[in-house]
Amino acid sequence: MSERTLVLIKPDGVARGLTGEILRRIEAKGYVIAELKKTTATAEQLAAHYAEHEGKPFYQPLVDFMLSGPIVAAVAEGEGVIPGFRSLAGQTDPTTAAPGTIRGDLGRDWGEKVQKNLVHGSDSIESAEREIGIWFN
Ligand code: CMP
Repeated sequence: MSERTLVLIKPDGVARGLTGEILRRIEAKGYVIAELKKTTATAEQLAAHYAEHEGKPFYQPLVDFMLSGPIVAAVAEGEGVIPGFRSLAGQTDPTTAAPGTIRGDLGRDWGEKVQKNLVHGSDSIESAEREIGIWFN
């Protein structure tokens, strides 16, 4: 099986109508969208997904933000897709993420305590398999 990663289009991306643009960039890079759904996160899914951030100051604002509207979950497949999608996404902070990236081209600071950065991408094979299990059973 080729490498897989979990992509989440966060509520800001869905609300701004950027789902197609973000999926287009993934496909244009040559990755395959193997699974795709629009959904509303549950508190249980977010507790599992963001377990490593529990206790950090941004944890509760992040969870509240992720519950604030529908998201799109996708599994993208292809050789090197885990670092490849993170490179497409750009750095966490959309203010300084490089132009040419999803966050750098489409995101910015909206003056809120939560960082609205449009997308999530898994950071390792282990996280990808764990996260895919949370959003696709
Ligand atoms: P992501 O990398 O997808 O997963 C963790 C998220 O927490 C991250 O995106 C940001 O949305 C958010 N985040 C990380 N660091 C901070 C921070 N210092 N302040 C606010 N939000 C953050």
